[in-house]
Amino acid sequence: MESDDIILNSLATTTIVKEDWTFREISTSQYTHGFHQYPARMHPEIAKRMIEKYALGSKSVILDPFMGSGGVLVESIIHGNNSIGIDLNPFAVLLSKVKTSPIIHQKLEDTFQDIIKKSKSDFQNHTKYDNAPEKLDLDFWYPVDARQKLPILKNHVFEIKNKEIKDFFKICFSFTTRRSSYQKNSIYKIYRMKPENREIFSPDTFKMFSDICHKNINNMKEFYLKTKSQKAKAFSILGDSRNIGKQFTKIPQEILDNGKAHLVVTSPPYGDHGTTVAYGQFSKHPGLWLELEEKEELLSVDAKGLGGKKINDHTELESPLLDKIIKKIKKKDSESIKKTNLSDRAGDVYAFFYDLDSCLEQLSQYLKRGNSHLCFVVANRTVRREKVPMDEILIELGRKYDFKHEGTIYRTIANKAMAVKNAPENISNYSSDTMNQESIVLFKF
Ligand SMILES: C[S@@+](CC[C@H](N)C(=O)[O-])C[C@H]1O[C@@H](n2cnc3c(N)ncnc32)[C@H](O)[C@@H]1O
Repeated sequence: MESDDIILNSLATTTIVKEDWTFREISTSQYTHGFHQYPARMHPEIAKRMIEKYALGSKSVILDPFMGSGGVLVESIIHGNNSIGIDLNPFAVLLSKVKTSPIIHQKLEDTFQDIIKKSKSDFQNHTKYDNAPEKLDLDFWYPVDARQKLPILKNHVFEIKNKEIKDFFKICFSFTTRRSSYQKNSIYKIYRMKPENREIFSPDTFKMFSDICHKNINNMKEFYLKTKSQKAKAFSILGDSRNIGKQFTKIPQEILDNGKAHLVVTSPPYGDHGTTVAYGQFSKHPGLWLELEEKEELLSVDAKGLGGKKINDHTELESPLLDKIIKKIKKKDSESIKKTNLSDRAGDVYAFFYDLDSCLEQLSQYLKRGNSHLCFVVANRTVRREKVPMDEILIELGRKYDFKHEGTIYRTIANKAMAVKNAPENISNYSSDTMNQESIVLFKF
């Protein structure tokens, strides 16, 4: 067993505690956690431990301002806490809603049998449905089996009358569209397999769909049984965390404590989506297949995410460390000979932290002062070979909002969704040594 360093800062001393935070033996897909791939998913055990440490009984309201696939909300329900998740990606919102809506498994089993029976019969009878996304070049992205069978499956999923059950199968279908495509699985950006791999790739699409449904139905059964005596509710909101006040108007006020929450557990993006993890690109094909209503939002996730828009006036964010790093990157920017639209890396870094700072300001307004904690799971990236220590910058930024740093847990990633061996392809601007480390920064407010 490996142990990670937990640095607990008290006013005068620093204590180092050794504890295992690698979770090598702990599954990331228990309950509804593994329903669908999502980039840079947080290990559910982190959310579990943070809730058990900081949520004071079922009265604590938990907030994840960068909800992603909704793992923090799943753990909140399991622990009997009301929770709110915010994300500007409509695909993430659908996924999180499905993962937090317990359904009796027999209903799912019956519906699955119905879908697969009708689909197989349609295939035998050469029935065709013209429902594939217009904007997607099927010949380019799918082998022939998937081109024929995905529209059939989609038709029968979309026919389901009950909305919750339909959404459950939409997620199973979405995962099937990804798994049966030439999209390279280990890479979150849109990237097609090499020709030699395409030649030997011949998925059986109905079998793939069936396997995904079986796994998800079984896991839903586990989740249903675990939470059936819980009354806790989870709200997955489509919106921008730079304006939490606005997002909170979208939920019943009785969920909150006089308009406020108590515990933040979250993993923000690592930088602007364009140069780090492109959540929007990842969600584009699934979102188009699922005909998500919020199409404009779907196609603008990466532009609207933290750091998506350059800021002209670099006002002081009160982090000396950030100032120092930006200065160094700026110098390297000016030395770079090749000028492209990626030349202003200092501007990218500033824009990201400017936006993150706005979220922190909002959190300070919508958390119960004197009774709250915040846990940020962050990774340090490098830009122009300069390390950007997000954990330390976060501590400096948090100071002006009275977020008192309680400690940082330095975690070695053993089985995170973005596998270490794929790091250089997956996420640019990471060096492999920083990739398998993340920090959990803890604050009291
Ligand atoms: C690291 S991921 C979160 C992953 C999540 N913890 C999970 O386990 O799936 C960061 C998320 O932040 C979202 N995001 C980026 N900028 C945002 C903003 N301004 N407001 C709300 N969500 C944002 C992205 O769409 C992405 O889903």
